[in-house]
Amino acid sequence: MHPTRRTLIAASLSIAFALAPLTSIFAASPAPVKGEHGMVVTAQHLASEVGVEVLKKGGNAVDAAVAVGYALAVVYPNAGNIGGGGFMTIRFKDGKSTFLDFRERAPLAATKTMYLDKDGNPVKGASLDGYLAVGVPGSVAGFETAREKYGTLSRQDLMAPAINYAKDGFILDQGDTASFSGSAARLAKDPAAAAIFLKPDGKSYAIGDRLIQPDLAASLAAISEKGPDAFYKGAIADAIVKASGAKGGILARQDFEQYAVRELKPVTCFYRGYEVTSSPPPSSGGVIICEILNVLEGYPLSYLGAGSAETVHVMVEAMRHAYVDRNSALGDPDFVDNPVSKLLDKTYAKDIRDRIDPFRAGVSQDLMPKGFGESKETTHYSIIDNDGNAVAVTYTLNGSFGAGVVADGTGILLNNEMDDFTQKPGVPNLYGLVQGEANAIQPKKTPLSSMSPTVVAKDGKPFMVIGSPGGSRIITITLEAIVNVIDHGMNIQEAIDAPRIHHQWLPDTVYIEPFGLSPDTEKLLAGMGYHLDPSSTTWGQAAGILVGGKSLAEIEKGGGARYNGAIDSRAASGEALGY
Ligand code: DON
Repeated sequence: MHPTRRTLIAASLSIAFALAPLTSIFAASPAPVKGEHGMVVTAQHLASEVGVEVLKKGGNAVDAAVAVGYALAVVYPNAGNIGGGGFMTIRFKDGKSTFLDFRERAPLAATKTMYLDKDGNPVKGASLDGYLAVGVPGSVAGFETAREKYGTLSRQDLMAPAINYAKDGFILDQGDTASFSGSAARLAKDPAAAAIFLKPDGKSYAIGDRLIQPDLAASLAAISEKGPDAFYKGAIADAIVKASGAKGGILARQDFEQYAVRELKPVTCFYRGYEVTSSPPPSSGGVIICEILNVLEGYPLSYLGAGSAETVHVMVEAMRHAYVDRNSALGDPDFVDNPVSKLLDKTYAKDIRDRIDPFRAGVSQDLMPKGFGESKETTHYSIIDNDGNAVAVTYTLNGSFGAGVVADGTGILLNNEMDDFTQKPGVPNLYGLVQGEANAIQPKKTPLSSMSPTVVAKDGKPFMVIGSPGGSRIITITLEAIVNVIDHGMNIQEAIDAPRIHHQWLPDTVYIEPFGLSPDTEKLLAGMGYHLDPSSTTWGQAAGILVGGKSLAEIEKGGGARYNGAIDSRAASGEALGY
């Protein structure tokens, strides 16, 4: 009797399994970086070094996060900043956690229709370029609040490395110069920005050039010496308000004087026994990650397999349902009632599962359209110290180099975070998000964010620190890294590097990373009714840490490194650094 093709395959597979070691038989990614006392993962290697030095000097993870935040403002100027804002999720060694919201606020003179023309249509670029796009920055207040409440070292100590890199400069590598050349045309429009980020001949900096930022060094030195008042109540605020007034903006001194950090309770949820702690509104991140995880908990993802058509199907449907909620129901908690407990309810997740057809793609237009829209350069870093304090920070100028403007003499790039608001219901923003009234512009309001600095714990101990830039995709990037570790058994580097998928309700398209799915899988999905788009490029740069081993299997077996760091292979100049 001749063996069938199926029995031959089964026989060869059993031989392969018999020969294969229990761990993975090939490496799709470089090995995660190991550390026993601390780990710092950022998108720029010099900033990672700054963080590790702070930890070695006895600073805790919050100290390191503050020093890294200031350092990135110098060595990663397309997203690191003191002219923007962000979020910090902290999980302390005793298991308690907190969240600092230092995101931008709309200026007092902002109005709901400020980006619309007389016919009610959005004016192209108005919420993205120049001073009208700028929200009141929060980073300086945020870092100082973190340091004063939870840090241990002096402001001067934590800011010194940033000041030195601004004053003495640093040598640009390939990853650094790529971001400069991509934004050269925009930066050229603002003389003060051009004077810093372009060479005197108007060309972009090249690999091996030294970038020196003396004005930024002076601004940082003033903040180091006098504290945040130097930024919010002194010469820096005056210079920004003056430039704003002269160039079509609406920022006023009062906006700066009134800026206040909010300390909020993070969003938490349980996924297969793991406790996820992440960003609450004014971010949509934590709520939507938890909503998607709650839906996915009802499916055997591990059995269905990473990247299979069935896994992609249920993930996309969970994303579709959750992003309708994101885009319609969420906003700044000082202005709107966020239905957080409803969205995090496990029975709500079951209702969503009941509406998912096991064999067919859903249709976004069939879900109640309540809102639409989001934007493109942000950075995330993850830190853990010897005591087990874990800090996840995502902060941003929104677009790469923000609004592309610098007030004379300050050296400080300003954000274009106002684009994260709904300009007009139904009109997509920079990230294609179609949003609603809950995120309409109002004075002092914070635009809805997707930033999701996240800490995952298991049995009361830190398990994973994770987050990413990527506009509206931050949520699905962070989610997929978590699922890849917990359900698919990938190590932290593989989990971060693995090809990504994304769906955000509208447009009704599954974005897939080039070569991310096999042609067979794509065919299966198309047969279910999905429209797949492999052409887009915004896939973020996740930065993660896994505690106790490089993968779940190693953690369970015991004997893995205490801290295992991974910077996304998509992040050209980043580094995971342990000690
Ligand atoms: O807060 C937000 O959700 C956006 N402003 C983040 C922008 C971003 O991630 C850009 N990076 N690629």
